[in-house]
Amino acid sequence: MSKPKRAPLRPRRDALEGLGDRIGQSLKKGMSKLEELIADSRKSGDENAACDARLLDYVKVLIDGKNIGSVAPSSKYLVERMAKAADLESARVVVEYGPATGVITRRLLHKMRPDARLIAVEYNETFLAELTARVKDPRFTAVHGDVREIDRVLAPLGVTRADRVVSGVPFALFSGHERRAILTKTSTLLVPGGRFVAFGYTTHLIPMLKDHFSSFDIQFEVRNLPPSFVFTARK
Ligand SMILES: C[S@@+](CC[C@H](N)C(=O)[O-])C[C@H]1O[C@@H](n2cnc3c(N)ncnc32)[C@H](O)[C@@H]1O
Repeated sequence: MSKPKRAPLRPRRDALEGLGDRIGQSLKKGMSKLEELIADSRKSGDENAACDARLLDYVKVLIDGKNIGSVAPSSKYLVERMAKAADLESARVVVEYGPATGVITRRLLHKMRPDARLIAVEYNETFLAELTARVKDPRFTAVHGDVREIDRVLAPLGVTRADRVVSGVPFALFSGHERRAILTKTSTLLVPGGRFVAFGYTTHLIPMLKDHFSSFDIQFEVRNLPPSFVFTARK
């Protein structure tokens, strides 16, 4: 006996009407709750609470912003892996893509030579303001800009060559064309023998790294949310 055919499911217009508004209202409520939590954590003066406030701040920008591409700042394990892969002992000019609140930035500065320079390019203005306020180091410059136009962002700073580029931008959110363009510009920016170190949650970049760099290797860090690949490419 053949099964009776089900009528195709169609969303009911009246059920959908107003859904956008309801989602918007819930997000607003969630956001004000989040702001309360941040204010409470700040008031308590306790070190752990200050740490909670920083994490909550990140979540707030995450809800507000576009192209953040991650649920939390990189873990200390991923940060250390990135900084090690960058091999900073001899580097004089280091460029960071997408520093956000600066977890990788601080570790890079810790490992860099006293006469080296770090230029961090961030697209999100809230993150940029926080980064500028928090990271006080004469070797450091934070600049507002889009890494898709990295050549134009760096030109006014007189930076035309870099020894290392360390990236936290979400490559998976860029189109294939944009990824290729960023890698072409990055490879042009790097000196011969320079390194490009990037983390990512997918393997999208592998074929393109092959096209743009003379060699590369891949590591994997499970102690991160989400677990992440670390790509190290050499020009
Ligand atoms: C996944 S977060 C990484 C943050 C931090 N580096 C870390 O490891 O926790 C990605 C960062 O890249 C920034 N970003 C995204 N697209 C960008 C672009 N086109 N140019 C510059 N920054 C960008 C986002 O605003 C965000 O701060």
